[in-house]
Amino acid sequence: MNLPRHIAIIMDGNGRWAEQRRLPRIFGHQQGVESVRRVVRECLSLGVSHLTLYAFSSENWGRPAEEVAALMELLAQFLSQELDTLMREEIRLRVIGDIALLPPAVRRVLDQTIARSSGNGRLVLNLALSYGARDEILRAVRSLAGQALEGRLSLDEIDERRFSASLDTAGLPDPDLLIRTSGEKRVSNFLLWQLAYAEFFFSEVLWPDFSAEELRRAIDDFGTRQRRFGLTSRQGPAET
Ligand code: IPE
Ligand code: IPE
Ligand code: MG
Repeated sequence: MNLPRHIAIIMDGNGRWAEQRRLPRIFGHQQGVESVRRVVRECLSLGVSHLTLYAFSSENWGRPAEEVAALMELLAQFLSQELDTLMREEIRLRVIGDIALLPPAVRRVLDQTIARSSGNGRLVLNLALSYGARDEILRAVRSLAGQALEGRLSLDEIDERRFSASLDTAGLPDPDLLIRTSGEKRVSNFLLWQLAYAEFFFSEVLWPDFSAEELRRAIDDFGTRQRRFGLTSRQGPAET
């Protein structure tokens, strides 16, 4: 089977899942955490080595304060509950996004979990938190422009490799497969640079209902795609 090395997921539809049941939206987010656990387990069992989950966008800060607070609480809870599993299953936690904006309690548990799991190598679990691709790109541009102004970098040294290495995703392979749940077909400011040649899979399933089976459906579909990377099909399967 042609397995994606890196899967990125826009976990969408928690609010609608709860609203369909006349429950407060946060119940959908709570249930969504179970889907995260299911997907991580399935990635481990299939041998996927990188998983990036869009958990909270820069734009999500604009949601009602109670929802933002409940999401931050849920995140801190999830991180402290998961440490044992991360260590047992050899999962390395990473984060992308402007984490300086996260509440101090969340940052503390995040920093601890990242440090503790940094030696693990079976699966990289990369959480996008307070993440917006435009913001990420601008932070990279500022950093490179700063180095250029100080004379430490010449303009022609700013190439794709160096630019990629200045993004929050430095060191990670680009996603091979992007999944978005809940039937929405848009990117919502996620990984705009890194998705250049990703295959897209849109699932109608709301995130809290997302199952291991639905993940396998996405991966099977990915296996049928011919990735050409701009070449012709006769030039043979191009390598990433
Ligand atoms: C995704 O579910 C989770 C976050 C954005 C934090 P939503 O909360 O966006 O759910 P819908 O789209 O309103 O159903
Ligand atoms: C994208 O979902 C962000 C996350 C899943 C964290 P949104 O629900 O915020 O996206 P839009 O507003 O529908 O584009
Ligand atoms: Mg949504």
